[in-house]
This record gives sequence, C-alpha cells and structure tokens, in this order.
Amino acid sequence: MAPGRDRRREADIVSDTPEVKYARPSAAPQLDVRKPMTVPEIRARKGVDPLTMVTAYDATFARMLDDAGVELLLVGDSLGMVVQGNADTLGVTVDDIVYHCRAVARGARMAHIVGDMPFLSYQVTPEDAVRNAGRILAQGRAHAVKLEGGAAIAPTVARIVAAGIPVMGHVGLTPQSVHALGGFRVQGREHDDAERILADAVAVAEAGAYALVLEGIPGELAARITETIAIPTIGIGAGVHCDGQVLVCYDLLGMTAELRPKFVKRYDEGFDRVVAAARGFCDEVKRRQFPGSEHTFTMRKRPLPVTGT
Ligand code: KIV
Repeated sequence: MAPGRDRRREADIVSDTPEVKYARPSAAPQLDVRKPMTVPEIRARKGVDPLTMVTAYDATFARMLDDAGVELLLVGDSLGMVVQGNADTLGVTVDDIVYHCRAVARGARMAHIVGDMPFLSYQVTPEDAVRNAGRILAQGRAHAVKLEGGAAIAPTVARIVAAGIPVMGHVGLTPQSVHALGGFRVQGREHDDAERILADAVAVAEAGAYALVLEGIPGELAARITETIAIPTIGIGAGVHCDGQVLVCYDLLGMTAELRPKFVKRYDEGFDRVVAAARGFCDEVKRRQFPGSEHTFTMRKRPLPVTGT
C-alpha cells in the first residue's frame, strides 16, 4: 500500500455503483473517492519496496485480494487456462478480457488493475493494438494493459503509450508463444538467449512501458535486467531480485490439482479445502442436517392448516 493511505477508511466510504451501495447501505452515495495506485506511484517503487501483483478474474476475488493489500490486480489471459479450462492462453479474446476486467473493477477498491492483451489483439497492426488496448480501459475499466514481447513489439508499445494508455511489458517465457518456444519452458539459460532477453527488456522499457513482467528466466538474468532498466520489474519464476512479484491467484491458493510448477509457492491448499467443504455440504444434505432451523424461514402469522389425514 502506498505510504499514508488509510485503506479501511477509504474503502468504507466508497460508493460508485448500485452493487456497492447495496452492499454498504450506510456508505456515502455517488462520490467515487477510490484512489487506486497510479502509474507514477508504481514507477516510483523501483528499487524501493517490492510491488505485489496477483491475477484476478472476478469481483469476489478482486475484493479479497484488494482487502489483503495486493497492490496490482492482473486480469491475465491465464484465465484461458484456469477459468476456461484450456491447455493454453491462445483462445482468449478481447471480449473475454473486457468482461473479466469489468468484474474485477467492480470488486477492487485500491488496486491498480492491469488487463492483459490477448493473442492477436496487438500483433497484427498497431491500429488494432491501440483500439483493443483502448477497449480494455474504456469498457473494462482497467488502468493499464499488458502485452508480451520484446524488441519486435516495441514500436507497438510506443504507439499505445502515445495514445495515453499505460503499458506493462512481459518478456522471457511468453505464454502466447508457447508453440514457438516448444512448451512452457524456462528461457535465457544460455548466454545468447539471455542477451536477447536483456535487449528485449531494454527495448520495451525505452518504448515507454511503465513496468515489465519477467517470466520464467534464471534469477541472475532477472537481477541483471532489474539493475539495467529504469522501470520496475515484476517477476514470476524469475527469482527474488525483481522489483516485485506476481502469482496466479489459483496457484497462490493451491487450487490447482495437478500442476505444481517449481516457481509457485502455495500459500494454502485451496483445492483440498474446497473439496472438503463441498463434501460436507453433500453429507449434510443427504442426512437432512442442512438446512437447519437457523437457516429456515418461518411464517409471520398462523401456520397453514394441516391437510390430508
Ligand atoms: O496471464 C497471466 O496470468 C500472466 C502472468 C502469469 C504474469 O501473464
């Protein structure tokens, strides 16, 4: 959280949508007093205090993560895998990202919201890229977009930034290139490859990106990129020397059953806990223990007459 911010006070007087008014009947209406982290505040964190970013795809998770103090919420195209159940991120559309961004924006209070630009939404023409990035801000209510790629995509980054849209870059393991990379593999282990990734990071930073995700690269390379470029780096599978860290929320919560990548730390065993809770519900329904009288409504006046014999 930015210094001097009183998260609880600000959250308690928030009211900008009918949903929020419904949830908080005593809140002051109309005025939107939210102060999400700004791009200059994020840039100023370079080398100061590590940034925290977690993916979110809906309002409920956004609210919980925001309450926990997560500073940036990424509506990642990882939703293609963890929400839609696909094997990769390639099928995600701009409409999907806009839809999920809007939900996240309704749930979040203080977090800076980043919407991922999906596959083919920025690679074909810079005009497409600006239009699609603009939709993610205007319709999705995100504060910035993220896109994958290095030197080849730098002119597109510059065009989007010139349109007044903040861009977060993403280099190293870029999941939209999964087929070109031959799978979700660590990048930059060999010297030449590492030099190329460093050059990519410099190109994206010089094109005007305000932060850069480093995914799936050796810690030494991430440290070198972090000390070379002037914008904050946010790592995932890139070691501790980045200016911040990002995790997919389902990974952080241990909600994925089979996948246990090395770079993920599970802060809970969400999969087991959800299964146990749902099992408890099923057991109690079968035994007619749920709903109990405390969950059951009663009539205000005389009960219904008894019918039948
Ligand atoms: O889509 C996503 O969730 C991401 C993170 C893994 C950085 O790009």
